[in-house]
Order: sequence, then C-alpha cells, then structure tokens
Amino acid sequence: MTDDGLNRNIERLASLIAGASRIVVFTGAGVSTESGIPDFRSPGGIWSRFDPEEFTIYRFLASPETRLKQWKILVESGLIVNARPNGAHLAVAELEKLGKLDCVITQNIDNLHQKAGNDPGRVYELHGTMSHARCLGCQRRYAMAELLDRIRLDEGAPLCPECDGILKPDVIFFGEQLPAEALRHAVDHSRRCDLLIVVGSSLVVYPAAYMPVYAKEAGAAVAIVNLTVTDFDLQADVVIHGKAGEVMPLILEAVKRNLAAAVGNPA
Ligand code: APR
Repeated sequence: MTDDGLNRNIERLASLIAGASRIVVFTGAGVSTESGIPDFRSPGGIWSRFDPEEFTIYRFLASPETRLKQWKILVESGLIVNARPNGAHLAVAELEKLGKLDCVITQNIDNLHQKAGNDPGRVYELHGTMSHARCLGCQRRYAMAELLDRIRLDEGAPLCPECDGILKPDVIFFGEQLPAEALRHAVDHSRRCDLLIVVGSSLVVYPAAYMPVYAKEAGAAVAIVNLTVTDFDLQADVVIHGKAGEVMPLILEAVKRNLAAAVGNPA
C-alpha cells in the first residue's frame, strides 16, 4: 500500500470513527504479535508448530500427558508471558477514553486490552482468557500469575493446590462452547453498532468471524486493519494492510484532529 493510499485510508477511517456513535473494535491474534505473542496462521505461527488437534477439550481431559503438553504450549509458547500492550492496544484504550468505543470483542486470551486500560466490562473475550484457571473438581478459580508460582510444570499436569483436581485454564478449547454471555453481548453489539473495526484477525474461525458480517448486515461500516488480505476485505468500507502497532496510533491521532476540528480547535 503506497504511503498516499495508506494516509488516505487512515483519514477515511478516522473520519468514520469521528462521525460514529456506536463503535466496536474486533481483534484477533494479529493485534498482539508486536507484544511478542505469536499469532496462529502467519508463517511461524502457533499452528505451524503445534497441531490444533492437540487443543481439543477431549484431548485435554483424555490424559495427564496431553494436559501437560497443552499447559506447556500455553505457558512456554508465549501465550502468557508477561507481555505488555503495544501501540495498537493503547490506541484502542484511548478510543474508549475519547468516548469513541462501545466495546472490544476479542478472540485473544492474553488480557492485553485490559492491561492497556480498556474497561474490562467493555471487553468481550470470545475464546476465554489465560488470566485465570479453574479447578474442574472444586471449581476454585486461580489467578494464573499466582498459580504459576505454586505449580511446577516439570512435575506433571498441574493439579488444584486445594483438592488435587484437574486445573483448566479459562480458555476455550476446540470442541467447547464459547462463553454464552460474552457471545450474546458480542452479537448484540455487532448488530447495533454503526462502525466495526477488525484489527489483526484472519477472520477464518466462526462464530467469532460472524461479527463483521452481523455489523455489515445491520448497515454498519466495516473497516479492516490487518497485515494480510482477509476474506472480508472486498466487503469492507476501508481496508488498511499494515502493522496494527504502527497504524492504530496514526488512526488515533487523525481521530483527535477530526474531533478538534469539529469543535473549532484545530490541533
Ligand atoms: N498487525 C496487523 N495484523 C497482523 C499483525 C500485525 N502486527 N501480525 C499478524 N497479523 C495478521 C495476520 O496477517 C493474520 O491475518 O493477523 C491475523 C492473525 O490471524 P490468525 O493467526 O488466524 O489469528 P486469529 O484471527 O485471531 O485466529 C482466530 O483461531 O486458532 C484459533 O482460537 C484461535 O482465537 C484464535 C482464532
């Protein structure tokens, strides 16, 4: 994308944001790669190193060996490193502070939108979160940071420190239902928004990938900020191919200029 094309699309998206009143940001793993967390389907991504079949709930429950392997993948593959929000997360959090965000719908489990400053009550995590784990026996819930101080992965699949039950991260494994309330809110906000912005998703996993479809069906504008082409690009009103950590801060600055001009104070 030429610089002129990039700048033109940044201004177009900023103008849509400035004029919208119910904005949804929909994120995938691509929003977190610049925080050091690999995505799934880019070259070198998680599914090029691990078999998705290992991540079904059936395999998790089937044996301590597969359970330990999944814990190790989640812990050691960087999905819960002490990652820090990048410029894209921070820009989305600032949109909320500007009153220009209805909610974030994310497929990510890294808690980085909340760390960046988004109100957790406005972040819908469709695929769960690695911030906590739950004992399938006594149902106790543990903060992952504290739990990792108490469990040793080299001693086998982690067990509940209180009852020795199976510990499961609060993530959604393949074969599991998505969290019903988060999904219901996500569909509702996608159907009621006037602008939905996709940031860093290949849009290939459903039902999450239906959100931009619902928005479009409801007459909303849809924008895509993604490193590579997605199947939804042709239906989007604005498409920006670039790195979210670089593009989103530029969009935020353009939004601020738009808002300042609207009240007669050119920035
Ligand atoms: N900036 C913008 N886009 C990026 C960046 C970046 N820095 N890095 C990667 N991308 C893009 C990639 O080009 C890709 O199109 O982000 C997209 C990431 O796509 P996936 O890896 O498929 O991740 P995601 O869309 O979140 O996958 C959805 O699939 O395996 C499941 O549960 C998993 O939640 C995940 C779901």
